[in-house]
Amino acid sequence: MNVIASRLAAAAEWRRSADLDRNDLVLNGLDLASNDYLGLSQHPIVRAAAIEAIERYGTSARASRLVTGTTPAHHRLEAALAERLRHPECVTFSSGYLANIAAVTTLAGPDTLIVSDAHNHASLIDACRLTKASLTVVAHNDPSAVEAALAYREQAEALVIVESVYSVLGDAADLPRLLQHCARYDALLLVDEAHGIGVAGVEAHSGMGAAAGLIEHRDRLVVTATLSKSLGSQGGALLGSKLIRDAAVNTARSFIFDTGLAPANAAAAHAALGLITRDRVASMEGSRAQLATALEVPIPAGAVLSVPMPTPESGVRARALLRKEGILVGCFRPPSVPDGITRVRPTARAGLSSDELAHACERIRSITDACVSTAAE
Ligand SMILES: Cc1ncc(COP(=O)(O)O)c(C=O)c1O
Repeated sequence: MNVIASRLAAAAEWRRSADLDRNDLVLNGLDLASNDYLGLSQHPIVRAAAIEAIERYGTSARASRLVTGTTPAHHRLEAALAERLRHPECVTFSSGYLANIAAVTTLAGPDTLIVSDAHNHASLIDACRLTKASLTVVAHNDPSAVEAALAYREQAEALVIVESVYSVLGDAADLPRLLQHCARYDALLLVDEAHGIGVAGVEAHSGMGAAAGLIEHRDRLVVTATLSKSLGSQGGALLGSKLIRDAAVNTARSFIFDTGLAPANAAAAHAALGLITRDRVASMEGSRAQLATALEVPIPAGAVLSVPMPTPESGVRARALLRKEGILVGCFRPPSVPDGITRVRPTARAGLSSDELAHACERIRSITDACVSTAAE
């Protein structure tokens, strides 16, 4: 085996234990591992919208958006997202990952200081690496650290990058305070709302950036989103001013050199957006509260709960034992966690029955407790 092949073999072995061998359990088991927070990927209206778009436009956008890959389904989704999230303009991408790449590479130039939260998602980290900007990674969720980085910078421009609700700990960024710092030190704030839309925010859960308190410095705010979590589809979006949208469309390589978002995914996300109702969000919130109480962990700002485990092995074991019983939960462990702590991650979801929830709470509690005790022996 040559050296590259041996390195690849080691990496493949490491990932083998990850859940790449899907089976019907994902569809038939009690799924508390997906990002379908509001259960909309299976909603009849969402499915019908996707099917209708396939009948009309086919299964693919067939080309980059700038060639022939744009359909009315894209325009309708972009207009609806812009209205709902309260931004002048929106442009969509074939994934949230690519939306983040586009946002950061469009906004950050060679004379920009990027101030990035230590818990930011891999797509934001990769996006920073693709720019010629300077980078400061600041302590997690620490607006004072952001302020210091902005105040003492040498670069003319600054871009602060955070998530509205962080995927690792489920905590929320202090957006009003960050916006104040950005206004004071002439910076832009890029907020990834992947885990916020449909889950957090005051008005119809349009994410935290749309919350009324943020209107004051709205011109400083740029948002990215994924369509693949509470919107039950796939794809991503960038929201901001017309200038930012136009700049992304004309310069972002992950927009220009990528086949457009599939029209069926655009139509599904559009239908899902209309189904984010107070009741549906309340159902997710109810299951979140019940899980948090049973597992004795804080209620997160997002839908994902975090049960810290003493070792990666104990977390993986808990997940495997739950899986054997038909209960699917996530498990994040090093190197995928910024603070090195392994966590079992049950995800709250709308539409779970009280029996399902009670059963899940009891089994997750009992199995994680047992795995913690075994690890201590
Ligand atoms: C915070 C955050 N941003 C971006 C993404 C990427 O979104 P997508 O899955 O649509 O590529 C994810 C996905 O896990 C995420 O958690």
